[in-house]
Amino acid sequence: MVMSTPDHYFAEQPSSSSAPTTYEVTVRKLQLILAGDRGVFNQGDLDWGTRVLIENADVPTGGVLLDLGCGGGAIAAALAKLRPDAEIWAVDVNERAREVTQRTLALNSIGNVRVASPDEVPRDLRFDAVWSNPPIRIGKSELHQLLETWLARLTPAGVADLVVHKNLGSDSLAKWLGGLGYAVQRHTSKQGYRILHVSHIV
Ligand SMILES: C[S@@+](CC[C@H](N)C(=O)[O-])C[C@H]1O[C@@H](n2cnc3c(N)ncnc32)[C@H](O)[C@@H]1O
Repeated sequence: MVMSTPDHYFAEQPSSSSAPTTYEVTVRKLQLILAGDRGVFNQGDLDWGTRVLIENADVPTGGVLLDLGCGGGAIAAALAKLRPDAEIWAVDVNERAREVTQRTLALNSIGNVRVASPDEVPRDLRFDAVWSNPPIRIGKSELHQLLETWLARLTPAGVADLVVHKNLGSDSLAKWLGGLGYAVQRHTSKQGYRILHVSHIV
């Protein structure tokens, strides 16, 4: 019997047939045209958590920024518009998501974002800021491993803003990050999202 692979948004190669879409959003006064596709997170509208992050996180300072788990590229595109002078990395394990992000970047004439699989990011590259709507659904230990890996690549003054819904474990994630030795501030939103602002303890 042939078992089909479930088509999670975090599959490396989604099995569903491609069905490209585009949609327009206004977020933080930025007008963006976003690409979407089957097998990619958030294929037809901006996710609420992503919106909460883009609207509320402080515009990052520093020259090298990361959208961890870029999906269709909404966060990377917003960062690029907010920080046209920065070098931005959009990283995703899902090959189709990377293609969709490339389309989003082209639709918005953005030239300062590099799209990469996790393995393609140079090992010695360090990030001044990370914005992420992280893939909670990959499972707790996988999520912890992912965050541990990428937060270790922050510069000493680097910060990460992670949006997580309270019903998806934002508070326990904040506690776990604190246990790793990071300073974590929680900002709450009306919709039940938390932005976890993570930095090194000084
Ligand atoms: C919740 S979605 C957010 C997508 C997009 N940033 C947004 O806000 O619309 C999380 C993304 O993380 C990606 N992801 C899952 N595991 C990953 C990993 N190990 N490394 C990088 N990205 C991963 C998924 O493929 C998915 O696109």
